[in-house]
Amino acid sequence: MDPNASGLVQRLAEAEQCHLLRFWNELSPAEQADLTQDLQGMDFQEMNGFFKNAMQTSSNKHEKLDNHIEPLPREVLGSVTRDRESLKDWELTGLRCISQSKVAVLLLAGGQGTRLGVSYPKGMYDVGLPSHKTLFQIQGERILKLQQLAEQRHKIKCCIPWYIMTSGRTMESTKDFFSKNNYFGLDKNNIIFFQQGMLPAMDYTGKIILENKGKVSMAPDGNGGLYRALGNQGIMDDMERRGVGFIQVYCVDNILVKVADPAFVGFCVQKGADCGAKVVEKTNPTEAVGVVCKVDGRYQVVEYSEITLATAEKRSADGRLMFNAANLAIHFFTFSFLRDVVQKYEPQLQHHVAQKKIPYVDSEGQLIKPDKPNGIKMEKFVFDIFQFAKTFVVYEVLREDEFSPLKNADSQDGKDTPTTARHALMSLHHRWVLNAGGHFIDENGRRVPAIPSLKDGTDLPIKCEISPLVSYGGEGLEELVKGREFHPTLIIDEHGVHEQVKNGV
Ligand code: UTP
Repeated sequence: MDPNASGLVQRLAEAEQCHLLRFWNELSPAEQADLTQDLQGMDFQEMNGFFKNAMQTSSNKHEKLDNHIEPLPREVLGSVTRDRESLKDWELTGLRCISQSKVAVLLLAGGQGTRLGVSYPKGMYDVGLPSHKTLFQIQGERILKLQQLAEQRHKIKCCIPWYIMTSGRTMESTKDFFSKNNYFGLDKNNIIFFQQGMLPAMDYTGKIILENKGKVSMAPDGNGGLYRALGNQGIMDDMERRGVGFIQVYCVDNILVKVADPAFVGFCVQKGADCGAKVVEKTNPTEAVGVVCKVDGRYQVVEYSEITLATAEKRSADGRLMFNAANLAIHFFTFSFLRDVVQKYEPQLQHHVAQKKIPYVDSEGQLIKPDKPNGIKMEKFVFDIFQFAKTFVVYEVLREDEFSPLKNADSQDGKDTPTTARHALMSLHHRWVLNAGGHFIDENGRRVPAIPSLKDGTDLPIKCEISPLVSYGGEGLEELVKGREFHPTLIIDEHGVHEQVKNGV
């Protein structure tokens, strides 16, 4: 393969990226072929343009946004706690849409999970529940259960198509895992995998980085790479063919996620929204989360680092933080809004710059592992499209019921770890049992108080796991638990109610 003959050398020269062929003569024919194939697929002028814009936006970002931001207006807000009287109605509306097969879910699973540090896709992670279910299985079973609930209520067969975005690195293993697990009981025709784009890592001068002599350092283009991928992989056409009207987007790592949450969907539909965001209340001013608010009149997620502490600490008359809508990356879109984003607005979305330590080969061909950031990865964010919505709404839920992301490996007192995720799910299921009239007893036969005492210095949850195949959101448990006493570990699944005493889960 001669890179001159194919015009590659010229394209590289025009884009000032000739160094990518620096080690050409040292590569084997197979390595040369691989490198040529990778480079042929790249539009270097486009990459250079992305780099220029991303760096410019990032350098403009030093100005804080304090003078530009406004809190959310009350009329766009719905809340599971403050609007209790409407909740049932929203849920019924959502369930009706589901029964008409109008609701699809879209899973963002293209991340690299670097902080968790496993070599396989995060959805395949087992956080150590009694059942040892993976995140993918929990989500798949929730979808299955919700389909059944909608079918039972409306007496028609329905499906919730599950669109799964992977990346070049996670596609094959994700598909394999689903196939080996028999698609968790779902119809495989309703699970649609697609792949997001990748972008090269660049140094601070805009030169593309080689991770070895014959390979460009590539990374997925962020969860906002969704919109480009939806267009170029024919996913919008697939949705249209199926008659999908509403889409809920969510991240793979939230063990508590209510997949296709009927109440959230119903709320957005009733409000006539084209775009909605699920949030939890931020209660600590210094918590490093992005908040949904308005910037110069447009809805946006503002990162903690973009405002001063004084603004983060501001409170409303009711005592709550003024900027308290913590973004969960769980969104609602109508089909037509999503289509407009994909077809019209996507090119307007800017890449964000993440400074990273990127291993590279230097001009001598030595592999260097830098100990401080030496370059950037460019990522689009899924929530950057709020600004295009005509009717935008925000739905506030309880953190302990719906949000516990898995980000980091286990460590003492770690945040967002397998342990915190496992505890969050078991503690939710514990509360479901209590709410359905069940009780727990300890090894001495005494009832465990509903609010555990912290006297003994432990805040370990009661070991209790309820299969999504039995209950989607706490419903249907009374007939199984009411008036009964259980020893932990309690497991309720499609085979019945079991207690595993003396189990060290
Ligand atoms: P995070 O930003 O937490 O990244 O992704 P991550 O890849 O899971 O973990 P780190 O930062 O490497 O440790 C939030 C969600 O967005 C998805 C992830 O799969 C996760 O569901 N995501 C992220 C993508 O789908 N594509 C991307 O390019 C990046």
